[in-house]
Amino acid sequence: MRYAVLGTGMVGHTLADKLIAMGHEVRMGARDGDNPKAVDWAEGKGPGAGHGSYADVSEWAERIVFAVNGAKLLDVAVAATKEATADKTIIDVTNPLDTSNGMPPTLVPEMSNTTSAGEQLQLKLPDARVVKTLNTMNHLLMVDPGRLSGSHDVFLCGDDEAAKADVIGMLSEFGWDDPIDLGPLAAARGMEGLMPFWLRMWGVVGSADFNYKIVRN
Ligand SMILES: NC(=O)c1ccc[n+]([C@@H]2O[C@H](COP(=O)([O-])OP(=O)(O)OC[C@H]3O[C@@H](n4cnc5c(N)ncnc54)[C@H](OP(=O)(O)O)[C@@H]3O)[C@@H](O)[C@H]2O)c1
Repeated sequence: MRYAVLGTGMVGHTLADKLIAMGHEVRMGARDGDNPKAVDWAEGKGPGAGHGSYADVSEWAERIVFAVNGAKLLDVAVAATKEATADKTIIDVTNPLDTSNGMPPTLVPEMSNTTSAGEQLQLKLPDARVVKTLNTMNHLLMVDPGRLSGSHDVFLCGDDEAAKADVIGMLSEFGWDDPIDLGPLAAARGMEGLMPFWLRMWGVVGSADFNYKIVRN
């Protein structure tokens, strides 16, 4: 499968590394097609790896991961272009965090409460098939659930069932056996709304190695 991973931060690197390790072809996308972090990443990962602008890697890819600054997500969506993302499964792992007033960050008002980053991304890219997932945990856990002992949960939501099946397949490759499907993309409001709680819990636990576990009969 050809994956574009948009974002050169720690999440982009972690997901791109894992996808390459699983045998996929991956191109890392950035605002600058010659972003040194993306170039370095691609050079170290063999013939299946590459890099380029958001639009170029999206055009090449079959699936596109959005792992960019959540507050700037919609700028990245415009840069990736409607045409290059049309009919493709988008894996949105972002959180719309505003860090402009320091820590802890707040949710961007225009992307929270009565809407979400995931929904705004879908509105910006109407022909793409956006699925929200993996945003509720630390990046290392995203691709290695065995870092924690016992069972714990990953969530997903989206309006396109086939795209969700694609994402469930990818999550299975990462080691997630039983993801919880929260239904339509509007459920991203709740998934992203967990962030203020997660940030508070981070301070309490003293490490990012923790996750949510849903207990039910
Ligand atoms: N860190 C985690 O463990 C974690 C866990 C769950 C979810 N998330 C979410 O995943 C996303 C990525 O997180 P991250 O920690 O890897 O990196 P980040 O610092 O939130 O984002 C870095 C990426 O955003 C891109 N970006 C595009 N436009 C930007 C702009 N105008 N200003 C700043 N950056 C811009 C950068 O692009 P260029 O490469 O083009 O410069 C860079 O690749 C975020 O939405 C975050 O909330 C993170």
